[in-house]
Amino acid sequence: MAGSIPRTFIDDLLTRVDIVDIIDARVPLKKAGKDFKACCPFHGEKTPSFTVSRQKQFYYCFGCGAGGSVIRFLMDYERFEFVEAVQELAKLLGLEVPFEGGRPQVRVAAPGSNDLYELMEKVSLYYTTQLRKHSQKEHAVEYLKNRGLTGQTAKQFELGFAPSGWNNLEQAFSNDPEIINQLTRAGMLIKKENGNTYDRFRDRVMFPIRDRRGRVIAFGGRVIDEGTPKYLNSPETDIFHKGDELYGLHHALKQPGAVASMLVVEGYMDVVSLSNRGVNNAVATLGTAISQSHVQVLVKHTSEIIYCFDGDAAGRKAAWRALEASLPSLKDGQQFKFMFLPEGEDPDTMVTQLGQQGFTQLQNQAKPLSDFMIDYFLEKADHQTVDGQARLIELAKPLMSQLPQGAYAQLLTARLAERIDMPENELFGRFFSDSRSSGRKFRANNVAKAEKPSVIKLAIAMLLESPSLAQSVSSVEVLQELHMPGVDLLEKMLVFIASHPNITTGALLEHWHGTREGDFLYETLRWEHHVPEQGVESEFKGVVDILFRELRNQRLAKLLSQSKFAPLSADEKTELARLLAE
Ligand code: UTP
Ligand code: MN
Repeated sequence: MAGSIPRTFIDDLLTRVDIVDIIDARVPLKKAGKDFKACCPFHGEKTPSFTVSRQKQFYYCFGCGAGGSVIRFLMDYERFEFVEAVQELAKLLGLEVPFEGGRPQVRVAAPGSNDLYELMEKVSLYYTTQLRKHSQKEHAVEYLKNRGLTGQTAKQFELGFAPSGWNNLEQAFSNDPEIINQLTRAGMLIKKENGNTYDRFRDRVMFPIRDRRGRVIAFGGRVIDEGTPKYLNSPETDIFHKGDELYGLHHALKQPGAVASMLVVEGYMDVVSLSNRGVNNAVATLGTAISQSHVQVLVKHTSEIIYCFDGDAAGRKAAWRALEASLPSLKDGQQFKFMFLPEGEDPDTMVTQLGQQGFTQLQNQAKPLSDFMIDYFLEKADHQTVDGQARLIELAKPLMSQLPQGAYAQLLTARLAERIDMPENELFGRFFSDSRSSGRKFRANNVAKAEKPSVIKLAIAMLLESPSLAQSVSSVEVLQELHMPGVDLLEKMLVFIASHPNITTGALLEHWHGTREGDFLYETLRWEHHVPEQGVESEFKGVVDILFRELRNQRLAKLLSQSKFAPLSADEKTELARLLAE
């Protein structure tokens, strides 16, 4: 993780590289006013909403909400680990990356990975060719037809056929020991104790698994008709980490237009079958439960995620796990829904029965996360008794406390409060009463003022966009004494910028990335504060004035009330006199 590379190195690196050059080399950019634009590489679109700012050193897509520093870009675009992204940038500047306390334990692309990708592409071609030409292809073709798949679908998903026999791949790929080695590394061959190798996939229908960038990284193979195991997946390899991947994501992102919603299903046959009937926004995990990192990938691409599960007990349990994995990614404007299928059905059988329209109708009835969560709590505890109500709150609290700061936590609390007939404020207090949630309490107290943002948020937003504004603030430390939510972060930003005068928006985001404060900064960046650019400087000064006035008032009130109980010290008297004269 970031901890092992000194922060100062990263801060410095970010002031020396130019995000525009780095993105432009990968996604050609066009100048548009002060900024640069392109069609977003992270979601399908026809008109460019992907914007890169040289001045701010960050990128942002108005379409899908992706955004961040150049490091985040490399991580998302190249699928680099954090350390790899830093190394890539350092390399451009001819710098060695220093590591504190030894080299970190992270997954960096193993040497020769590029060759593996190329090889896997060839293996995929081999399997698709066998489905067309092999002498035993018939039963595979029949099987796919019986499942209702069209030739076009098979082609789109590059379905293939692994013939029976133990050494097909070796024969097809020559007996070159280097290639045999690579095929083994890629998980396609299994090595026996005597050193000989044999094909992992035999007599199966083959599904190439592509990563988001479209590279073949693994295969799934389904037994034809009956047999066990029904599905066989590639093992973990240098290029395949199954807990991170989603089958069908590349396909879904290739579709024209923004991805309005994404359907998460359990099997890859479901993804293929849905697409066969015209539903092209489904993805599947690879035999694992949906994880937080899966959700983090998905929310980058769509604002609505619909989980599709069996209606049975196992399905409900899996759905609850999906809910837990989703909580940290909940934010305003992001929807999660749950769709439960009748027992014994899966998305494949449903869409085959109902067709695209029928399936979409069913999808439209999916339960919002809030309903699913609240129904679950109500099922678990009888809220009509005092005991039950207490139990329900205890049950809900650990989940609620995972929600990121935002109106959503407020909304969920309000909904639940209504259902259990408890004053909203009281329930809110019960959920978010610890010290970490002062920001939330602030929001809670301010719901009456609704959308009116705090001056602190405004100051932070302006500072984030134009860090040089910090120059106009002196005696930053005293702000700490101000009892206002958010003032901590504002103060930290001012101090940080003072010691890094050339810092950019991108570097600020990077500095706090992965923390609650970082989340807040991203959220702030997306928020339109409507201060026109020419007005930013004076507006910022105005806000700072308000803060200092508030500080004066707080101090004054404190001294005055103190003086009622005990005489003030000489210093305090001087201060009081000064404050009164101001
Ligand atoms: P299911 O058993 O639900 O199969 O597995 P399915 O999707 O309905 O497939 P069909 O319709 O019978 O062909 C769902 C997922 O679980 C994993 C696979 O990722 C599969 O897509 N799985 C299942 C395995 O990895 N191995 C197995 O033996 C079975
Ligand atoms: Mn099925």
